[in-house]
Amino acid sequence: MEKLLIDGGYPLAGKVRVHGAKNAALPIMAASLLIDGPVVIRNVPDLLDIRTMLSILRELGCRTEMEKDAVTVNAGSLKSFEIPETLMSRMRSSIFLMGPLLAKFGEVHVYPPGGCAIGERKIDLHLQGLRALGAEIEQKGGKIVCRAKKLVGADIALDYPSVGATENIMMAAVLAEGRTTIVGAAREPEIQDLQNFLNAMGARVVGAGTDTITVDGLKRLNPGAGAVYAVIPDRIVAGTLMIAAAATRGDIELEGVTPGHLTSVVHALRLAGVQVEIENDRMQVRCPSRPIAVERIVTAPHPGFPTDLQAQMMALLASADGVSIIKETVFNGRFRHVHELCRMGADIRVDGSSAFIRGVPRLHGATVEATDLRAGAALVIAGLAADGRTSVEQVHHIDRGYDRIERVLAGLGAKIQRYVQAAESLNV
Ligand code: EPZ
Repeated sequence: MEKLLIDGGYPLAGKVRVHGAKNAALPIMAASLLIDGPVVIRNVPDLLDIRTMLSILRELGCRTEMEKDAVTVNAGSLKSFEIPETLMSRMRSSIFLMGPLLAKFGEVHVYPPGGCAIGERKIDLHLQGLRALGAEIEQKGGKIVCRAKKLVGADIALDYPSVGATENIMMAAVLAEGRTTIVGAAREPEIQDLQNFLNAMGARVVGAGTDTITVDGLKRLNPGAGAVYAVIPDRIVAGTLMIAAAATRGDIELEGVTPGHLTSVVHALRLAGVQVEIENDRMQVRCPSRPIAVERIVTAPHPGFPTDLQAQMMALLASADGVSIIKETVFNGRFRHVHELCRMGADIRVDGSSAFIRGVPRLHGATVEATDLRAGAALVIAGLAADGRTSVEQVHHIDRGYDRIERVLAGLGAKIQRYVQAAESLNV
């Protein structure tokens, strides 16, 4: 088992370059199934979720390679449309492979992603969209079997701007006959990145970043020879580092970021008294004194405050001056980090979808457990700010979304190391 050992109280300082976006790379890797030839995707971070997606693509028959930050996918040898249950359960968001496989084969078998540490992961909007394009869907022994003799463009309205459902429908629609319009689409930057990738491969998609996306279907995509595409920077990793700098009273410069993707986060940090200066693709973040409580932060679909930074922001506000309220509106179970933060001395009370955070002067170190990817990042931030030593366990959750987080933080002056416990000796 691996854990991160952190000695708190050291302000982060220095420069850091932010790696590519996991949540842009994953759907773009899925979309590479739409192309009968090699596609090179650049700026891909080396993360557990990326490796899981590569395993799934290989399982389906693709040839894949990962060389530094470049992933090559060749779906020319794609031969299966059944996503293995073990791999689905390892990464629920692989549900957005349905769209490309249905478009390619006219059939796809998946397993419901089920709930997870952050709450329900429903897929009704995914299935509603694929049905609208002509798919017939049935549940067979725990499996979801989806078939479509032909995909035909349709007008689709989503009653919630689901990121994954928007991506699934976009990818199925690019090979459907005629025009598809998605009204109520998700507006995340990762959706825009997927549109730009699809169009670079010859598709005709417009509107990503707004709530209405239009796709004019084609018989096939025809990328230029040796198609190469670089994904956007990871705004959630950038936001995590900004919050970590603030929590440690540090002063860091982030390079290679897209400030426009973080407007709501910059606004919340400035309300907390954090100084943020923006220049092109650089952001200077400094917090010389104790942060101030923020009256109210409400997570929402983009461009609202991202749910993926809710836990990290709570770790910062846990030692701010005053009472803050965080309302989680995207997932119905994304407060499992509260218990762990309270074990570090935080004073947080949860009432339904709201958390009331009464800032304490200082958290203290403890042994805590990461319950999901972003909760784990929040506990690392709390450990960096706390008095004494913190041990964050179940670090594999964090490795799903952060590339060697301990190296990045140690490079900014944190006292943090990864401890790999030898396998427990078997008592034979
Ligand atoms: C994506 O998940 C991200 N994952 C998540 O990041 C992120 O938290 C989420 O979008 C919201 O921004 C990837 O991009 C790989 P949703 P996704 O569909 O697509 C409900 C991380 O930490 N819903 O927008 O699964 C659902 O139950 C991860 O990197 C339906 O009701 O998110 C949830 O409450 C965590 N029916 C809400 O919408 C559906 O058919 C948001 O889900 C689909 C979703």
